[in-house]
Amino acid sequence: LQYSDRIKNLTGNAIREIFKVISKPGVISFAGGLPATACLPVDKFKEYSQQLLQENGAAMLQYGATEGYYPFRECMAGFVSRCGIENVSTDNVLIISGGQQGLDLTFKAFINKDDIILVEDPTYLAVLHIAKTYQADVRGVRSDADGIDLNDLEQKIIELKPKIFYIVPNFSNPTGRTLPVQKRQAVAKLGEKYGVLILEDDPYRELRYSGSHLPSIKSFDESGHVLYVTSFSKTISPGMRVGAAVGAAEVVRKLTIGKQAVDVQTVTLMQAVAQRFITSGELDRHIAASVPVYESKKQAMTQAIARYMPESYSFSDPEGGLFIWGETPGKDCKQLFATAVEQGVAYVWGSEFYADGSGADRLRLNFSNATHEQIDEGIKRLAKVLA
Ligand SMILES: Cc1ncc(COP(=O)(O)O)c(C=O)c1O
Repeated sequence: LQYSDRIKNLTGNAIREIFKVISKPGVISFAGGLPATACLPVDKFKEYSQQLLQENGAAMLQYGATEGYYPFRECMAGFVSRCGIENVSTDNVLIISGGQQGLDLTFKAFINKDDIILVEDPTYLAVLHIAKTYQADVRGVRSDADGIDLNDLEQKIIELKPKIFYIVPNFSNPTGRTLPVQKRQAVAKLGEKYGVLILEDDPYRELRYSGSHLPSIKSFDESGHVLYVTSFSKTISPGMRVGAAVGAAEVVRKLTIGKQAVDVQTVTLMQAVAQRFITSGELDRHIAASVPVYESKKQAMTQAIARYMPESYSFSDPEGGLFIWGETPGKDCKQLFATAVEQGVAYVWGSEFYADGSGADRLRLNFSNATHEQIDEGIKRLAKVLA
C-alpha cells in the first residue's frame, strides 16, 4: 500500500500512544487531560437528552446544517460575550466537533505544505501533530512565566512570514500559564499589523480557581484577524464532542467548507444538550461545583510535590486548568518514562510540547483525573524516579 506523504512517516500523537502503555493495572496516570469522573454531569445529560428527544425528536435525528444547529449558534454568539467578544452574529459562529476539530479545520483552510505556523513554546502537543498532517513548518516563540515574548513573536513574524500564530491564553496546556491582558491586546494588534491569523484556543477559561477572568485576545480584534476556538470538553463532557469557532464570517465560511468534507455536521442532539446546559443555567452551576474539586486536587499535587520531590525540581502553580508543568534539570524525562511506568506512575515528557523537540528536562502532570490518595502516592513514586 502506498501511504500519503503527509501520513507515511508520522508517528502517533504521544498521548494516544501513552494511553496504550498506562492501561496496565496499578499505574497512576498523570498523563492525560481527562476531567474528573465526578465532574461528568451524567444525570443532567440524561434529563436534557430525554427532554429534547421528547420535544423535538425528529429534528434531533435528522441531518442538519454543517454550520451548526441554528438555535445553538445563536446561543453561542451570545455566550462568548463572557470573554469580551461582542457584536457576534450567527455568521461568525461555526459549531465544531470539539476544539481539536477547530484547529484541524483552520490548518486545512490556511496551510499549504511548508507554510509556517508559529506556536508558543511549549504548546499543546496535538497542535504539533495536526500541523504535521498538513506538512506545515512549525516554529516556537519563546515564552516564560509572564507569557510569550512579544519581541521574539514580532521578530519571527517579520523573518518567517507565518500564516498563523497559535496560542492557548488561559491556563495553557502544558504550562498552566495565563497570558497577561496587555499581551493579549498586543497579540491582536500584531495579527492585524502583519496579516497573520491569531488562532486563540481557549478550552480552559472557565476552570479558574483564583484571580479574575481576563478578556480574550479576540475581544481586542478590530480587523477579523483572530479566530477564537472554545470547547465544552472540560466543562461538560469530552465525549460529547461539542465546541465552537468564532471569527470573521469569511474565515468561518472557509472552515465550514472544510467541515462539510469531514463530518458533515456536529451531532445535533449533542449541540442541543450543550445549549440546554447554557440556557438553563446548569453550565454555570456545574462549573461552580467542579472548580473546587479541581482546585483541591491541584493543591493535593502541589503539596505532594513540595513534600516528596527533589529540591532541584521546580514547577508551576497555575490559577486554573488541569496541568502542572515541571522542570528537573539534567534529567531526560522521555528516557525516564519507562522506569516511571515500571514504578507505577505516568506523565508526559516535555519534548512532546516543543516545536523543535527540546524541553527534555520538563514534564507535564495532570491532576484532574486522579484521587487525592493516588496523587500523593503517584508523586511519591515519581520523586523516587527523579531522585
Ligand atoms: C489546549 C487544548 N486545545 C484543544 C483541546 C481539544 O479538546 P476537544 O477537542 O476535546 O475540545 C485540548 C484538549 O485537551 C487542549 O488541551
